Amino acid sequence: LKKESLLYEGKAKKLYKTNLKNLLWMEYKDDATAFNGEKKESLKGKGRLNNEITSLVFERLEASGLESHFVKKISSTEQLVRETAIIPLEVVVRNVVAGSLQRRTGLHEGMELEEPVIEFYYKDDALGDPLVNEDHIRLLQVAEPEQLHTLKRQALAINTQLSRLFRQCGLILVDLKLEFGKTADNEIILADEVSPDTCRLWDAATKEKLDKDIFRYELGSLQEAYEDILNRLGGAARG
Ligand code: C5P
Repeated sequence: LKKESLLYEGKAKKLYKTNLKNLLWMEYKDDATAFNGEKKESLKGKGRLNNEITSLVFERLEASGLESHFVKKISSTEQLVRETAIIPLEVVVRNVVAGSLQRRTGLHEGMELEEPVIEFYYKDDALGDPLVNEDHIRLLQVAEPEQLHTLKRQALAINTQLSRLFRQCGLILVDLKLEFGKTADNEIILADEVSPDTCRLWDAATKEKLDKDIFRYELGSLQEAYEDILNRLGGAARG
């Protein structure tokens, strides 16, 4: 396995080609961004923490029959992943009111939702990733109705599994953002990452925030919180 040319550099990760067909080399960076890139900082060790956490999460999902692009961890900051064509939608699943749902609805933060709420955001930096509905998605031709149905079904199944997994670690999965990609065989699978950068995770007992909101709102040490999550997940993975 050899790392080849850089294919893409995003805000938190770099993606390289490899000498193997349909397999890419993903490197997690220490960079943190928020508010559409307006707030930016390098946080030492974040790349390692997100790579370790995402790897554990993808392994656990696979064990419950939920596929992702994850193949294996290469190093503390790198993974081998399957190549996919990313569908330009951020699929957000929410279990508890927080963030933009609170701002959009005026419901109080921390209110538990009886049923998960799914939202789609159109991945477009210039537009600021706007919330879109199913008609907009059809209009933009980013996913066919049947694919959208698959995205929703997978997103809900992933949310159910991960809510359970985090609950076992004493954490509440408040919400999460998922991205999906199409493989060479036209299969839709979970891609990107699942980490405290892309999920809201609160301590179940104290409701302390242990995710990227720490960076967004300067609530303390992000690395300490992520390390805590990794330890709890590691414990769960071993147990
Ligand atoms: O900001 P908002 O409440 O809409 O975010 C919902 C969830 O999606 C949060 O867990 C947040 O971290 C995640 N998110 C993300 N990338 C974005 C926007 C939101 O991972 N561009």
